Amino acid sequence: MIASAPGKAILFGEHSVVYGKHAVVSAINLRCYAKAEKSREIRIVSNFGTTSLDFKGFHAYISYAIKRFREIKPISGVEIQVKSQIPPASGLGSSSATTVSVLHAMNAEFEAGLSKDEIFELAKRVELDVQGIGSGTDPFISTFGGCWVLPEKKRFDTKLEFSVINSGKPSVTAEMVRKVRMLKERYPEIINPILDSMDSIALSGFHALEKNDLSKVSELFKINQSLLRALGVSTPEIDEIVAEVEKKGHSAKITGAGGGGCLLTTGEGDMRIKLSSEGVRLEDHEVWNSV
Ligand code: PMV
Repeated sequence: MIASAPGKAILFGEHSVVYGKHAVVSAINLRCYAKAEKSREIRIVSNFGTTSLDFKGFHAYISYAIKRFREIKPISGVEIQVKSQIPPASGLGSSSATTVSVLHAMNAEFEAGLSKDEIFELAKRVELDVQGIGSGTDPFISTFGGCWVLPEKKRFDTKLEFSVINSGKPSVTAEMVRKVRMLKERYPEIINPILDSMDSIALSGFHALEKNDLSKVSELFKINQSLLRALGVSTPEIDEIVAEVEKKGHSAKITGAGGGGCLLTTGEGDMRIKLSSEGVRLEDHEVWNSV
């Protein structure tokens, strides 16, 4: 059976969300496709290569997904093939989209009868297995799709579209989160107001997105990016990209942890993305062959 799940973009609120502030997060129309077939052994095939269970390598998420699935439905083996449209380590939720699509494909192939809520819980477990920490936001978005305000989990819609620019360097979430925490510990009286501003930006951003007000979103992107830079999660390469975009009258901001990874822009980018995409779903062979 074949399943697909979307990646995600953080429109507003990365880093401040760690401290309980609001964030706006959406599923995007870049997806990961996974095929699960009954087999006597375990075989995992992706762009990165072919392995068996590979808990420490590039198939860590898929390996833990199989392990957690087997705790619910004992199976002797499975062949998993994965094709992803989401650039890895870019802040676009590639790992969760992989995990969720693999779990959903296995659920269908082995008729385990898991609900979406149960798939989400398993995917959250896998995120913790691999990363040690994780808010569960990415598995949530990959499972249910849509556009959300966190922490309330309020769903809304927007027609706005953006483009993505890849800074070319991988994003290292844990390192960036640690960096911000250290800065906040050293200068609480300076950093706390920045986090409060980010909270206000996320709330204004949500209203602007809901009203499809691109020029306001663009203004808020600009302020948000300046504050992310103040937190130390931008890079000279990202600053250069932002300056180029702003010269053309648009704006761009980091999406995700920064230190590399992708930017969202109101201008032109490497690829166009739509928001509010559908969550995990089954696919047919025709779709699989066309990916
Ligand atoms: O880099 P990503 O897509 O995993 O996003 C990280 C977002 C942070 O706010 C920096 C951390 C978090 O857990 O919310």
